[in-house]
Amino acid sequence: MQHHSCIVNRLVLLFTIEDSKEKRIVKMMKLFKTFLLISLAIVISAIDEERKVFIVYLGSLPEGEFSASVHHNAILQKVMNPRLASKLMIMSYKRSFNGFAAYLSQEEQQKLGGLDEVISVFPSQKLKLHTTRSWDFMGFPSTVERSLTSESNTIVGIIDSGIWPESQSFGDEGLGPIPEKWKGGCHGGTNFTCNRKIIGARFYGDVDSARDTHGHGTHAASIVAGNKVKNANFYSLAEGVARGGVPSARLAVYKACDVHCYDIDMLLAFDDAIADGVDVISISIGRDHPRQITIDSVAIGAFHAVERGILTVQSAGNGGPSMYSVQGFAPWILSVAASYTDRTFVNKVLLGDGTTLLGTSINAFPYGNEELPLVYGKQVTSKCSETDARNCHLNCLDSMLVENKVVMCDQITSISVVKAAKGFGCIVPNEQNNVSLVRSLPVGALNTNDINLVKTYLNSTQKPKIKIFKSEAIKNPDAPFVAPFSSRGPSKFISGIIKPDIMAPGVEILAAFPPMTSPSETSTDQRSVKYNILSGTSMACPHVAAAAAYVKSFHPNWSPSAIKSALMTTAWEINPNHNLGAEFAYGSGHMDPHKAKDPGLIYETSKQDYQKIWCNITLTVGGFTTGNASCPATIRELNYPSMAVQVYMRSSFVVSFPRTVTNVGKANSRYVAHIQGSSNLQISVDPVNLQFTTLKEKKSFMVTVRGKGILTSETSESGSLVWSDGIYTVRSPIVVYTGTTNSIQVASTPPRITKTSVILLVTIVTVYCICV
Ligand SMILES: *[C@@H]1O[C@H](CO)[C@@H](O)[C@H](O)[C@H]1NC(C)=O
Ligand SMILES: *[C@@H]1O[C@H](CO)[C@@H](O)[C@H](O)[C@H]1NC(C)=O
Ligand SMILES: *[C@@H]1O[C@H](CO)[C@@H](O)[C@H](O)[C@H]1NC(C)=O
Ligand SMILES: *[C@@H]1O[C@H](CO)[C@@H](O)[C@H](O)[C@H]1NC(C)=O
Ligand SMILES: *[C@@H]1O[C@H](CO)[C@@H](O)[C@H](O)[C@H]1NC(C)=O
Repeated sequence: MQHHSCIVNRLVLLFTIEDSKEKRIVKMMKLFKTFLLISLAIVISAIDEERKVFIVYLGSLPEGEFSASVHHNAILQKVMNPRLASKLMIMSYKRSFNGFAAYLSQEEQQKLGGLDEVISVFPSQKLKLHTTRSWDFMGFPSTVERSLTSESNTIVGIIDSGIWPESQSFGDEGLGPIPEKWKGGCHGGTNFTCNRKIIGARFYGDVDSARDTHGHGTHAASIVAGNKVKNANFYSLAEGVARGGVPSARLAVYKACDVHCYDIDMLLAFDDAIADGVDVISISIGRDHPRQITIDSVAIGAFHAVERGILTVQSAGNGGPSMYSVQGFAPWILSVAASYTDRTFVNKVLLGDGTTLLGTSINAFPYGNEELPLVYGKQVTSKCSETDARNCHLNCLDSMLVENKVVMCDQITSISVVKAAKGFGCIVPNEQNNVSLVRSLPVGALNTNDINLVKTYLNSTQKPKIKIFKSEAIKNPDAPFVAPFSSRGPSKFISGIIKPDIMAPGVEILAAFPPMTSPSETSTDQRSVKYNILSGTSMACPHVAAAAAYVKSFHPNWSPSAIKSALMTTAWEINPNHNLGAEFAYGSGHMDPHKAKDPGLIYETSKQDYQKIWCNITLTVGGFTTGNASCPATIRELNYPSMAVQVYMRSSFVVSFPRTVTNVGKANSRYVAHIQGSSNLQISVDPVNLQFTTLKEKKSFMVTVRGKGILTSETSESGSLVWSDGIYTVRSPIVVYTGTTNSIQVASTPPRITKTSVILLVTIVTVYCICV
């Protein structure tokens, strides 16, 4: 209501100062009318207009002392009156970067976006939460050489759904005192105690502690830094020693997600983690549709982290195999794809006629070996149409007809319906997703071919019978290869960068889990486990965060880009032909932490280089007018450990990548460049030899890539540059691609219209006319 008095005062004031007595009455009438209209509009807008939570992002913190709340309120007051401003302000970001969150209308949001000091204004949206064979698989046994004192001085920040602090994986036996450099504290809330393993905890949003009731955060944290726990297993599946990649490292837990995650909490978690002094951030969170960097909370948080020397590792997302689904495409983030390891779980399904089929499901139910009647969804309904019943839609199945039987359904999402109807088990199509998941009841998830076999069998007999066996681990000899669900590049928003950067195990990983949470994440499944098997890029990300911490424990002073380079240039080479999306599926390859600790050469990117790219992007996207009028910078010229360029289809191109490497191997060494892969691309390196005489010495070179009309459709060609001195091999993939991205910096001119294309066009037009 303070609106009205404020406007009345201003109007009256203007009026008394400016006007003569005669005009006063007429004007008064007019003013009164205006006043009525304005106040009506205000009342309507205050009541009706839906305000949403927006983040107003202001960039880096100003130098010196400043009061965030005064500053932020002053900005908000530029678009609303002070009383309202203080009511609608939600929170300030002030420890590691500058910004605030407030309830804003569409109009206020636009006005704020137009202010000079504001970089971006964006709605706080929902994000998603996107063992231990995996370490042995990559030649990283528990006996690997470690720098123990330094490892126990390494702190990994986990931004996720919290942690289950009582898990055996997080005991602190044998760990020394908390590192002195730690500036955070234990603010875990109700019934949450930290120890010398979990040295920090914070929580955000509508919860009262950092305790994990979801499972995701506990799982991720134990992949990074869980202790060695013997006899860990999921109902005797995957039995063995569970361990994190850096079992001596410390954990700082930031619970930014409960059932959902929101941008405002994500930013708060980064604000705290950076100021608390973590060494590496692991974040297995993303959104359904990638967003431009300036309005993506993770990209913004990670940018301020890298400015303070902290590497952020993010999961690429589970949006694959579609192209352009990758997250973490900002050059300062290490984006991680998920791969299979050489162990995979399958479960046998035996039909009454003796046919054995192989399903993908983690079935640990001990009572799963009896032969039971098999029915099709459409046979066991009295209320639904045939189509609905075939799919086993909600409320379609009759409990009476389903109880203690195995039900076949045409969609995988119906498992819970069968469970609710008291079915014993379920046969479903695995929907091309070659990944075994923990389910709430015995499931045979079969490929299309096998589903048809089951249908034929159902038709062939009066009393169909089936057995669903417990899962077993089998060898996956072709591993590693990328998981179908793993998000693919390139980025829709930034061209000229290979993303994801690297691949790590993310399929069927055993790791710690809260005993109070359903292992299949369904309310009907009340089993309690200490270790669970999960799949996703969410599981791949903490593997790489651990590897980054491992490399850092040997080189505490290395920059984020040095660590990232070490991991990327030593990654296992992957065959592009067996992985849909090639480099845009797995980046530089599968990580090899043991090799990464001693990479020979590194590609370093300075803070200033990242800042230039950031400046160029924010200026190009718009809305950022402080500081420089223009910031020339291209990702191609960034000293990145991989190289990519987007060109037009059928074009000729000559593209150069300037690069500089730093010697971290042997003081006296001579490296020679080799080009591997693509015969279609002409790749040259100048100079071809690099002679080093001291450590930390830097040498620059230029990689030039030429091609003529080689890409005739939306596709890519790749090769790689390998520097080797006989001891070290330092590999960088090089990708040339065409695509539909409308992003900046395409490095060739479109091909000219030729006679053939004109003829083609005429033909198309003619055909079109005839058709019409
Ligand atoms: C704290 O949480 C643990 C795990 O849920 C539980 O076992 C314990 O009883 C709780 N203690 C209190 C005081 O609530
Ligand atoms: C599924 O896995 C099998 C065995 O590992 C493999 O041969 C097949 O290519 C995979 N299919 C897909 C779609 O990934
Ligand atoms: C099973 O029988 C039904 C009805 O007789 C028929 O429509 C269907 O095509 C048959 N399915 C198979 C897989 O043979
Ligand atoms: C702004 O311009 C100055 C001078 O050209 C340059 O040194 C600085 O790096 C630029 N700032 C950014 C963020 O690019
Ligand atoms: C970004 O960098 C490119 C390449 O140097 C330059 O052409 C462009 O003008 C820059 N954009 C802005 C907005 O500074």
